[in-house]
Amino acid sequence: MATNRTFTMIKPDAVAEGNSGAIIKIIEEAGFRIVAIKKTLLTPERAGEFYAVHAERPFYADLCGYMSSGPIIPMILEKENAVADFRALIGATDPSKAAEGTIRKQFAKSVQANAIHGSDSDENAAIEGFFFFAGVEQF
Ligand code: PPS
Repeated sequence: MATNRTFTMIKPDAVAEGNSGAIIKIIEEAGFRIVAIKKTLLTPERAGEFYAVHAERPFYADLCGYMSSGPIIPMILEKENAVADFRALIGATDPSKAAEGTIRKQFAKSVQANAIHGSDSDENAAIEGFFFFAGVEQF
C-alpha cells in the first residue's frame, strides 16, 4: 500500500542561489505539507552513504563531492500519492528534459546541479527521511 509521505532535499546550487524560499512556496502551493525541515551540511562520507545505491556509477564521486559542497535543505513532505506527485512536480533529472512548469525546469542547471531530490519509492522515502530526521522530528 502506498504511504502518503516523500523525502526531498533542496540541493547546494538552489540553496546558494537563494531559491529555497521560491521552491518551498511551489511545494506548499502544490498541496504538500511539510512534516520535517532543516538546513544542514553533508560531509562527503555522509553524502556517499546517502547515495550508496549509485556507488558503481561513474558520476558517484562527483555527486558526493557536489552534495557536500554547501548547505542543503532536507524535508519530509506529506500528501496523498506523495512520491509520484512529487516526482511529477520536480520534473526529469536532466533539466533539458524537464517539462515546462516543473521545479527543475525553472531552477536546475545540469544533471548534477539539478536543484532538488525526490525519493523514487515509498520504501526509499522512509529510509531517506530517517537518514536526516529522528522519529520525534517527523510530525
Ligand atoms: S534517477 O532519478 O535516480 O533515475 O536519476 P539518475 O539519472 O539515476 O541519477 C541519480 C542521481 O545522480 C545524479 N546524477 C549525477 N550527478 C553528477 N553527475 C552526473 N553525470 C549525474 N547523473 C545523475 C542525479 O542528479 C540524481 O540525484 P538525485 O538526488 O537522486 O536526484
